[in-house]
Amino acid sequence: MKNVVIVGAQWGDEGKGKVVDLYSAKAEYIVRYQGGNNAGHTLVVNGKKTVLHLIPSGILHADKVCLIANGVVFDPEVFFKEIDSLLASGAISDRPYDRVRVSDRAHVILPYHRLLDSVREAKAAGGKIGTTVRGIGPAYEDKVSRRGIRVADLLDAKTLRAKIEHAIEEKNVLLKNLYGADPIALDAVYDTCVGLGEKLRPYVADVKSLLMTALEQKRPMLFEGAQGTLLDIDHGTYPFVTSSNTIAGGALTGSGVGEGAIGSVIGIMKAYVTRVGSGPFPTEIEETEPALAEKIRAVGQEFGATTGRKRRIGWLDLVALKYAVQVNGITGLALMKADVLNGLDCLKLCTSYSIGGNTVYDLPSRAEDLARIEPNYDVYPCWPNYDAKEVKGFDDLPEELREYIRKIEAFTGVPVVLLSVGPGREETLELGNPFE
Ligand code: IMP
Repeated sequence: MKNVVIVGAQWGDEGKGKVVDLYSAKAEYIVRYQGGNNAGHTLVVNGKKTVLHLIPSGILHADKVCLIANGVVFDPEVFFKEIDSLLASGAISDRPYDRVRVSDRAHVILPYHRLLDSVREAKAAGGKIGTTVRGIGPAYEDKVSRRGIRVADLLDAKTLRAKIEHAIEEKNVLLKNLYGADPIALDAVYDTCVGLGEKLRPYVADVKSLLMTALEQKRPMLFEGAQGTLLDIDHGTYPFVTSSNTIAGGALTGSGVGEGAIGSVIGIMKAYVTRVGSGPFPTEIEETEPALAEKIRAVGQEFGATTGRKRRIGWLDLVALKYAVQVNGITGLALMKADVLNGLDCLKLCTSYSIGGNTVYDLPSRAEDLARIEPNYDVYPCWPNYDAKEVKGFDDLPEELREYIRKIEAFTGVPVVLLSVGPGREETLELGNPFE
């Protein structure tokens, strides 16, 4: 059995939650390795909707172990809210720590990270990133500047106070003098942290060691990425990105396993593209085809699972998709939400960009150049409405949809291994098994 990494191949919101839920049936360990509760994974099981932000989507399978690894920025308050709601719905038993463990090395999101995120976004006039205001960026900044508080630190009340004092020293200068906000009160943060640490104690583990043992025992693992390739801090549309490595390489640094542990990388993509938050989006149709954008948004329910914001809509961008295939080493694609496009008059596929009169086939690095892109499209007839229940295999799909899939495969050089035609587990056509 191979271990599988799931990554978003676009700007997030591709439908990773559903694929993680499906593939969790084949894995024993499900690992979150980056990001935090900026993610929002919507799952529909037996008609019941669950939205998770932090706990891996594999939790809805009774016998799986869900690990939150070192690369995640971990908000303990959100974690306990999710635990409580999973307990209330009966998805987990009264000993949740038997199935959910958190790395002692993960960095903690504290109230001052959320505060900084929000005052910065409020103050940024034209250059707003449009963050989820969950404190993700400021928590990663503390990690890199070596002022972070890690999960293990919460468990040692004696040494914690000095660490928090060090962490907030500069922030209070910024908050007071630059943002005109109240300074952070050390005592209040310390007391909150000590309380959270005690509650968290049974969940804390050396996740890397757990994974090493699981690797030795050849237990299949699923690494659950959050956000998407084009939001990667290094390879995304900087600066309009999140603060972690969302690409497959993040699964290694974010969990502690070596490269040899990974067998397949599955890129999750929608049949069109969405983006939430600011930043360049070459194939966006909000201005050129507003009625169509509205229609796709309504049919596809394209509103953020975390913030409820409207997602921006665009045609499928094959140039950006191929880039995602390359930087992740994607071995198979999962094509989501093709059903949202059923019955449209036509479909457009972006196959190259024009920038200042030059035709280019790769993503430029600067936001200014990304913003100047004019997409070049191939136009195709769309597939008609069809009854997904009648589809048992690839050959049962409408010819236009099969052709769309073939075009994606030919352009990117990798096969489509899963096709989703609705939110439910059963509304899925599996064309390959990445664990084999
Ligand atoms: P942050 O991750 O909250 O700092 O937000 C940075 C950018 O990433 C913003 O444009 C967000 O809208 C976007 N973003 C963060 N998480 C997600 C996600 O799970 N799906 C889609 N976009 C996201």
